[in-house]
Amino acid sequence: MNLIAKLLVLFFISTTISPGNTNEIYFTKTKTRLDLVEPSLGIWSGPRFGTSQCSFTCLQEPQCVSLLFNETTKLCYLFNVIFDGDESGDVESYWVINNGNTRFVRCTAISTFHYIPASCIDLLSCAVNTSDGEYWIYPIAANGRRTKIFCHDMATGPSHFITLKNMNSFIEHDDSNWEIIWQPCRSNLKPPLKEVEFAKIKIRIEDMVVNGTDYTFTSVTGSPTIKYGETADCNGEKFWDHCPHFGHAMIDTKGTGLIVDPTVVFGKVWGYETRATDFLRSADGSEISFSCAGWCGGCGPVSGPIKLVHSVEFISATDAQPIVCHK
Ligand SMILES: *[C@@H]1O[C@H](CO)[C@@H](O)[C@H](O)[C@H]1NC(C)=O
Ligand SMILES: *[C@@H]1O[C@H](CO)[C@@H](O)[C@H](O)[C@H]1NC(C)=O
Ligand SMILES: *[C@@H]1O[C@H](CO)[C@@H](O)[C@H](O)[C@H]1NC(C)=O
Repeated sequence: MNLIAKLLVLFFISTTISPGNTNEIYFTKTKTRLDLVEPSLGIWSGPRFGTSQCSFTCLQEPQCVSLLFNETTKLCYLFNVIFDGDESGDVESYWVINNGNTRFVRCTAISTFHYIPASCIDLLSCAVNTSDGEYWIYPIAANGRRTKIFCHDMATGPSHFITLKNMNSFIEHDDSNWEIIWQPCRSNLKPPLKEVEFAKIKIRIEDMVVNGTDYTFTSVTGSPTIKYGETADCNGEKFWDHCPHFGHAMIDTKGTGLIVDPTVVFGKVWGYETRATDFLRSADGSEISFSCAGWCGGCGPVSGPIKLVHSVEFISATDAQPIVCHK
């Protein structure tokens, strides 16, 4: 690399000012966390003298849209994806190719330096392979944070699902389960209890709200089917504390990187002398369980619909496909 080129690259990486010439390629320093960058996903890595030489290498690689230069090891990593930024992170040497370059068209601009899909619909316009599967999506409702989404029905009309790793089950005890008609507080019941187990939950990507009545990826016992996050009981009024209650809800989002918004409150949704009992919410918010006591009644979210937010859990970048929008 000649000196002029070196100086030019140095200039490019040391500024984020737009010169008005959209054919130039610039880099913007993006503060982030190392666990969000995932060096192992680099399309190339090797030793370089400094950030300027690393960025020059990126310019020569048509797929490269971001880079990491490790000042300690002097290793340069090139990426064909743009990773998440996180202002609280400690990685100072991650650079993202800037707005206005001609390499890539953006699907959705989340910030000035994200050219990444904000929904599965965006993928249709920017990815070659748009089969159903797990993708990294950067929803605007999640402030552009990397989110593992199962894109479903890509061929006919994409919808968004979260794949659950653990058991999420919702069980309902109703008047068909009475062992003796109108007899409350029985320790036995007439099976079966209605139950829905969700393997995936549908979300609305615009606001990350769960559609609790989508049963595409569920196993269902009995009808009518129970909504995600809800349960019901018909074994006796709430003040009969000693009564067994068979209705039970188990939400477990561990392994998804998401939790139910901690501001969502659970309690009585409908019914007579009903309340949620044995309510448990794990410290990290990933597990929520409760029973319901009523004569008869239902329990579930009472403060509004179930909305998902990011947890502090780290999900490996290799769990889903990263997609960059090619021209
Ligand atoms: C640089 O490499 C060192 C040694 O492998 C590692 O501990 C450090 O986390 C790396 N830093 C960055 C920003 O990649
Ligand atoms: C497309 O993506 C699917 C789902 O991840 C994968 O199974 C398949 O191998 C990919 N096909 C091509 C041609 O890359
Ligand atoms: C929830 O999903 C079901 C089934 O896919 C659909 O019929 C319904 O309109 C959706 N509800 C909302 C509020 O989007």
